[in-house]
Amino acid sequence: MCGIFGYVGKRTNAGQLVIDGIKNLEYRGYDSWGVACKRGENILVEKNTGKISGVDSQQFAEECMQAIAHTRWATHGGVTKENAHPHVSTDSTIAVVHNGIIENYQQLRDELKKKGHTFLSETDTEVIPHLIEEELQNTEDFASAVRSACKRCEGRYAILAMHTTSQTLVAARTGSPLIVGVSPEDGYFIASDIPAFMEYTRTVQYLDDGEMVVTDGQSILFMSIETGEEHPKREIEITWTIEEAQKGDFDHFMMKEIMDQKESIARAVNQDEEQIRVVAEAISKARGTFLVGCGTAGKACMASEYFFSVIADHHVNFAPASEFKLYHHFLKQESLLIVISQSGETADVLEAMKVAKSKGAKVLAIVNVEGSTIDREADYSLLINAGPERAVASTKALTGQLAVLMLIAYAMAGKLREGKTLLLETASLINDMLNPRYIRRIEDLAESIKEKEDLYIIGKSWNYPMALESAIKIQEVSNVHAEGFAGGELKHGPIALVEDKTPCIALVGNDEVTTDILSNTIELKARGAQTIGVSPSNNEAFDEWIKVPDAGHAQALVNIIPIQILAYFLAVKRGKDPDMPRNLAKSVTVK
Ligand code: F6R
Repeated sequence: MCGIFGYVGKRTNAGQLVIDGIKNLEYRGYDSWGVACKRGENILVEKNTGKISGVDSQQFAEECMQAIAHTRWATHGGVTKENAHPHVSTDSTIAVVHNGIIENYQQLRDELKKKGHTFLSETDTEVIPHLIEEELQNTEDFASAVRSACKRCEGRYAILAMHTTSQTLVAARTGSPLIVGVSPEDGYFIASDIPAFMEYTRTVQYLDDGEMVVTDGQSILFMSIETGEEHPKREIEITWTIEEAQKGDFDHFMMKEIMDQKESIARAVNQDEEQIRVVAEAISKARGTFLVGCGTAGKACMASEYFFSVIADHHVNFAPASEFKLYHHFLKQESLLIVISQSGETADVLEAMKVAKSKGAKVLAIVNVEGSTIDREADYSLLINAGPERAVASTKALTGQLAVLMLIAYAMAGKLREGKTLLLETASLINDMLNPRYIRRIEDLAESIKEKEDLYIIGKSWNYPMALESAIKIQEVSNVHAEGFAGGELKHGPIALVEDKTPCIALVGNDEVTTDILSNTIELKARGAQTIGVSPSNNEAFDEWIKVPDAGHAQALVNIIPIQILAYFLAVKRGKDPDMPRNLAKSVTVK
């Protein structure tokens, strides 16, 4: 949560550049924004509440070679101008932007107040510039002062700091992502995520935990926060293109990314077969395989319990990453932890990895963002190759995750080729399904139910996690109260919620549980629900039928897509911005 972006180099419009670039990180937070520009020996700070996308960067076009910017998702302190970043030292010579949480900030703040420092905000971040200010009493070197200040901070942080009299931009990370963009022509860009500087360079260097960098725009030094020891850093060329990271002709990233599934699923399926076999063997050999993820990624993990059971006759254990503590004592050297994450930066997932590693267990990551912390820290990593996912609501990442998990299940059953064929056929069916007529059909359905405040979704087998996922999607973007249930659980309580014409969606496949889920749908209909079947074939149980192709074991991938489209249109028709859902940020880097 929160995006940070800094630049130092030859370009003379650093303020404008960081404002324009950080607009590409708005998915990380959109409560408030701020920028600090260095002009001569002055640092000028401008900040406010509201969305960074609404800020005209022209007003920061004045000459400046060094600047830092921030887009905020509030954690400590409400959404106010005072709490927006950058924060400055008492003498206003140091400016800092931060992503993460300084857990011992209260104690540091009390200590600094006693020393005469004045605080203007309620944030944890504000202690950082004040700590640096304190440290500058012991050294003239700005980078050394930042390093000493970082050593006093507990928690997770990525920071950018600058000083009126130092030519250097200093960045440090512990727990939150930070990436350097390298351009021999322009200088150095440092951001929470690559889209901030993709326009200028695709050569990157990743900071690891406990690392800091110091740059004057001409050269860069990587060093350890703990020891100050310098070390070289590998440059990596990223494969994502600027076009992939843009909206193109779509009104919103969410719809663009739903439509990207025409190609992204096939890309996820086209994995290196040998690597999939290695992973399948690791699962077969492991004494206990655990899957963790959060939110949508968690629903992919949950669906895979069914894939592994039905396709590979193998038992795996799923827990939401935030609830993984339940399994900690089962982890051994022979265990395997599979972590699923689009961003590769989710704090709860990283925590699960840390525990698993401390017990000697191996970690397999299935991620979208190459070079993310999870990707780099796992023992094995598979990329889903969905391309940049910018909308807060995860869509194409989910279907990529499901495809890779299913492929592994088929490989475990010794049927990798069969699985690959099924998934590629499914990808092609989805390509056909995502046509303008189909989209309009679902838009019409959204129009007809847009006033409803409650909506329920049921599923069975792998359609059960998809019912839970459907609820997340509808809740987050349209703010309709949506809940997902296992069809068989309805009569044990939830059916009491159903009133006359309550929309109830049934996710149906063409398999051994079809009869059961149709019975559950009829039970809903008998209580007056407006039943909407997402199913390969029509049935008298449905008041409305959304046709989906019959994809056999891959039905989960197909059935979730009309719901993604429905969630999108419900949001738009209810006057919400689907790309910026209330209270949410895409990358959840706090626990
Ligand atoms: C919902 C959504 C979130 C994420 C969750 C995990 O649409 O996007 O529930 O799935 O925050 O994020 P990643 O996959 O980046 O670990």
